Parts: sequence; structure tokens; C-alpha cells
Amino acid sequence: MNDPVLIAPSLLAADFSCLGQELAAMDQAGADYIHLDIMDGHFVPNITFGPSVVAALRPLSPKPFDAHLMIAPADPFIEAFAKAGADIITVHPEAGPHLHRTLGLIKSFGKKAGVALNPATPLSVVEPVLSMLDLVLVMTVNPGFGGQSFLENQLERIGQLRRAINALGKTIDLEVDGGINAQTAALVRKAGADVLVAGTAAFAGGPAQYQSNLDALRR
Ligand code: DX5
Ligand code: ZN
Repeated sequence: MNDPVLIAPSLLAADFSCLGQELAAMDQAGADYIHLDIMDGHFVPNITFGPSVVAALRPLSPKPFDAHLMIAPADPFIEAFAKAGADIITVHPEAGPHLHRTLGLIKSFGKKAGVALNPATPLSVVEPVLSMLDLVLVMTVNPGFGGQSFLENQLERIGQLRRAINALGKTIDLEVDGGINAQTAALVRKAGADVLVAGTAAFAGGPAQYQSNLDALRR
């Protein structure tokens, strides 16, 4: 379990007209991971950016790039995101029929592998592959947009996953994503999460605020 908690600001909430500067500012403010929300307008009702943008950002920060693929199918793009410089590649089980194969593909490029669970996706989906994983991502909103309200009914599921990870005895990040602010951060940490994605709360107020925003999420 990561102690202290790790903060993964999502560039989804950055100013897209100066993404490189935003990344550099968030890096200097103390981000632990850089969360990259990849959306295809098909798996989720929104479109963001692809591997070429990730590759362009890569030289600007040494922090781990945490790529959250909200795309279907994911398999044809895993190599491109790996080569673009993603360190952790997370997929949704609904993105394709062969989750075990997809995770193997991610690993074949020497990358860390994650599975993301939508609010209605049964936890049992990850059970057969848990020992292959480096990260489990619990969505605390429905994926597609920043700025949505935190779903409290996910807290119990975070707790169940924490117990499953501890029982396995392997180092696996338990990440939460959606509606995380200083108040909900306290709730998810108590439930057992140890990596917090934050878009709106991390980028609020512009670069001068980033460090205090991250500090507020850690406290
Ligand atoms: C939603 C994305 C999130 C999003 C979180 O589909 O996966 O990473 O950026 O944004 P906030 O923190 O604003 O809820
Ligand atoms: Zn995300």
C-alpha cells in the first residue's frame, strides 16, 4: 500500500492550448503519476487525444505516465501507447472479449498493466487476473467527463478490493478516479485506495494553485 498516498492529476482538466506547460507545472507541483484519459467517442461519449500527443508530452516530465484507455477495442492501440511512453496502461474489461490476452499484450511491452472498473462492473471480473495486475482502477463516476459527482456507493467496493489485494500479498495500486476532492479523498483513503486521480480539484485556479491543490488532496 502506497503510504503516503499518491496523487495522479488528470490532464483532462488542464488547459489543452498549453498542455506541455500544464504538464511541467503539475510535475513541479509534486504530482506522483500523470494520469492520461484517452477517450474515443465510442466506448465513452467524449474524445480526447491519442498516442502522438502522449509521445509529444513524454520528454517534458519523468513522472510515470498512467494511461487510462477508455477505448474499444483497445488491443490495436496498446503498442502505440507503449511506444509513446506510457508506463502504466489500464483497460476496461468491456473493451474487448479477451481481458487476459490484453493484459499479456501490455506486459509484452514491459509496461505495468491495470484494469478499470465502471461503477456497475462486477468486481469478480478482476479476480481471475488480479495476480497479473499492477493497478486496479475503481471509477467513482461513469467514465467520459471530468467534473462529475463522486459516487459514494463505490466505497464498499474499494474496501473489498483492498482486502483482496492484501490477501494476495502483491504490490498492486488501488486507484480511484472521478469526483475526487479534499473531502472525498479522505473517504476513499479510509476505504483503502492508495492512488487518487484528480482532474478538476488538481487544476483548479491555475498553475499558482497546483501545489496547494495537491497538498489538500494529500492531507
Ligand atoms: C473520467 C476520467 C477522469 C476524470 C476525472 O472519465 O477518467 O480521470 O478526468 O475528473 P474529475 O477529477 O474532475 O472528476
Ligand atoms: Zn481516468
